[in-house]
Amino acid sequence: MSGPGPGTGQPHEAVVEALPQEWIRVTVGDRSFELAAACPHRKGRLVHGFVNTRTLRITCPLHRSSFDLATGLPRSGPSCGPVPTRPCAQPDGGRGEPE
Ligand code: FES
Repeated sequence: MSGPGPGTGQPHEAVVEALPQEWIRVTVGDRSFELAAACPHRKGRLVHGFVNTRTLRITCPLHRSSFDLATGLPRSGPSCGPVPTRPCAQPDGGRGEPE
């Protein structure tokens, strides 16, 4: 059996995409969040972070600071500041996907 299921506490899978200009988009179910790609602690690559789909937080793969996906505010770990966030752009990140 693959993927989340009933009773797992993880109702959706998370998709993390790299966007142009050092941003990432995290999609959990029908919600999307855009954050800066680099952790404010020591520039860990959040595109490789772990997303908790229940708490809507992303954890940096380097030193495990976690950040709220909606606000970018740090919730645990050594980070001294928030990850910049921005309103979600077009679904394709504004790149203009070919039809
Ligand atoms: S680089 Fe992200 S917590 Fe250290």
